[in-house]
Amino acid sequence: MVKILVVFESNYGNTKRAAEKILEGLNEVDGIEVSLKELKKVDLKTILDYDAFLVGSPNHMGGPTRSIKGALRASLTSLASYGWKGKCLLFLTHTWERISEKLRRKWRNE
Ligand SMILES: Cc1cc2nc3c(=O)[nH]c(=O)nc-3n(C[C@H](O)[C@H](O)[C@H](O)COP(=O)(O)O)c2cc1C
Repeated sequence: MVKILVVFESNYGNTKRAAEKILEGLNEVDGIEVSLKELKKVDLKTILDYDAFLVGSPNHMGGPTRSIKGALRASLTSLASYGWKGKCLLFLTHTWERISEKLRRKWRNE
């Protein structure tokens, strides 16, 4: 059984919804056991009990939130030495208007 931990931070619910959808999808795959936890409720030391680690964050000023960045910095640097490199995936949720505006500009070659 492959054990996967999905951790997220969400202030307005979008990243939580994305994380729940990911959980739903992963639960359909045989041989995978998934846990979903909010960042503030998870002891990051326990991630060594998992085979992979997914982290969800709202995009705040072009990147993950300060607490997600802090958690990643604190945990993953040391975990890399346990052979964890490549077993972490980060997903972000954005404001659609900002993305759609960027795409519009690209299409118009502005
Ligand atoms: C302080 C702050 C900064 C943000 N910065 C960006 C940004 O740089 N780019 C973007 O596309 N959305 C930005 N957003 C919008 C959020 O990324 C978006 O609404 C996200 O889905 C919120 O996730 P949540 O509902 O899980 O909190 C920002 C929102 C906040 C509150």
